[in-house]
Amino acid sequence: MDIDIQGLIRTALDMRKMSYTPYSHFNVGAALLSSDGRVYTGCNIENAAFTPTNCAERTAFFKAVSEGVKDFKAIAIAGGPADATELTYCSPCGVCRQVMSEFCHDDFKVIMAKSETEYKVFTLTEILPERFGPSDLLG
Ligand code: THU
Repeated sequence: MDIDIQGLIRTALDMRKMSYTPYSHFNVGAALLSSDGRVYTGCNIENAAFTPTNCAERTAFFKAVSEGVKDFKAIAIAGGPADATELTYCSPCGVCRQVMSEFCHDDFKVIMAKSETEYKVFTLTEILPERFGPSDLLG
């Protein structure tokens, strides 16, 4: 695979320190690799009204798209309680999967990481089969 998985995971793990999580204390970091080799970072950002909370994955996607980047290869995700010494796998929520669906091909890689050496890799199709995407609006 022509993807620096360890490097992406390291960035995702590092981004957890930027999380704004006064309510859940569950810190998630993400590192999104664009097709042209750039990495867009994200963290979760919570809100007193709860609903406006933005997940780490969407933060990374929206940063990239807002800079005109819309082609992606992979995302690494690392999450867990802020004070955890060991992470479990953090699976992207349904809303984030739908955002991935808007911009990513079937074989977009979703890397769920506990550490640089312990991770699972899925394709977008595996985690969101039969997805509704832009082409469905064409009839
Ligand atoms: N969260 C993410 O940022 N990404 C995920 O993949 C799962 C959940 C955030 C949302 C909220 O701030 C906290 O984790 C607890 O749900």
